[in-house]
Amino acid sequence: MKSFKLPKTLKMGSATSALQIEGNIKWSNWLRWSEFHYIFDGSTCAHTTNHYNHLEEDVELLKTLGHECYRMSIEWSRVEPAKGVFDPEAMRHYRKEVQLLIDNGIEPMITLHHFSDPIWFEDLGSWQNPKSKEYYLRFVKKMIHVLGDLVTYWVTFNEPNVYFQGTCIDGTFPPGQVGLGNYFRGSLVMIDCHIEAYKLIHLYYRTRLHKKVMVGVAHHLAYFTLAKKPHWWETIGVKFLNRYFHEFYLEGMTYGHILFPFKLKGVQYGRYADYMGINYYARHLVRATPHIETFYMTLEPMKGGNYSDLGWEIYPEGLYYFGKKLYKSYGLPLLITENGTSDSKDEFREQYISDHLYQVNRLIKEGIPVTHYYHWSFLDNFEWADGLTPKFGLVEVDYETEERHIRPSALFYKKVIKERVIEKCQCIETDTTQEIR
Ligand code: BGC
Repeated sequence: MKSFKLPKTLKMGSATSALQIEGNIKWSNWLRWSEFHYIFDGSTCAHTTNHYNHLEEDVELLKTLGHECYRMSIEWSRVEPAKGVFDPEAMRHYRKEVQLLIDNGIEPMITLHHFSDPIWFEDLGSWQNPKSKEYYLRFVKKMIHVLGDLVTYWVTFNEPNVYFQGTCIDGTFPPGQVGLGNYFRGSLVMIDCHIEAYKLIHLYYRTRLHKKVMVGVAHHLAYFTLAKKPHWWETIGVKFLNRYFHEFYLEGMTYGHILFPFKLKGVQYGRYADYMGINYYARHLVRATPHIETFYMTLEPMKGGNYSDLGWEIYPEGLYYFGKKLYKSYGLPLLITENGTSDSKDEFREQYISDHLYQVNRLIKEGIPVTHYYHWSFLDNFEWADGLTPKFGLVEVDYETEERHIRPSALFYKKVIKERVIEKCQCIETDTTQEIR
């Protein structure tokens, strides 16, 4: 085990999303979906941590934990519970939350869409409906009007690839409209929405607020790998996944470059991102299978590694690999918008943080501008299709009593933020560079 020092320039904090922690969101498609028992552990997102009503206490906790930045999302269905009807109380609440963060010296980052859609929006055909662009942009406009003067960092969409995989490939996300056609149709609409939102936010800041703004996407990057002697279908599989699960969104949302064979009318080449948001968790082995419904392919963890409670393989070098690759391709500042692990006993979260921050530091030492690291997550939360069972929080939450307990790894992270030193790191430097094309 070695030690290393992180630079002061890296801002550190954590991330959450509204649906996963707020509770009492009556108008989200996820409440309807979870109440129909589509969640693996039978739980629902009805209450979760009740963060909405623990606002002051939770911001106080963020401060106690020494956070410099915090990424949160706005729940669209709370702000616009019925089509075209905006709730002033909900908007006031979010403004209060953002102001509280700032008053406590914590820089806010705002995600406008994090998996959850309003029920009215889903019932009108969700992202398959060409009018969804109009609806989404109306919501975006409202929110920059409400929060623009307080916020610099915006995320238009969280993980479009995971969203469409869940809704259209494995059907574990509402509305579960499985089909490749839906995957690509919806994705193209979302790419278009991001580009228009990017332009709209920039126009507003330039003409009304006269201040700097940073707009981007939080991309989910999964490290796909092959067995030593792969089946030919697996080799094709990795190429297909890298192209249509990663590059399709990276190229589309950064440059308006729509990958063959798809087209998007009216979209021009340009630059539609000010930073690259990286959500990184694990490495996956691509295996051929005889199951038609998963396109004869599955993802498995590699054998002989370390795993989270969810069985995800912990592979810190993957973070270095993606940082290097994305900086080489796009030259934009990097923000690690999510990185974390499900560890109910808090046995390996500290090591996870140390080893991933080592890879972040490796990038910085090579001159790659990594400006922020947001640990996922601040609080235990509703983990989508996996329900309330997985524990990602730096802070443990008792869902019955709503009591918060700071986990030892959170105190460790606090010390790292303050002192910038990590003493016990595995410092792995597997050479992944030959894979960077
Ligand atoms: C999502 C989070 C989620 C986390 C852990 C990311 O894919 O953005 O909402 O909780 O992964 O699964």
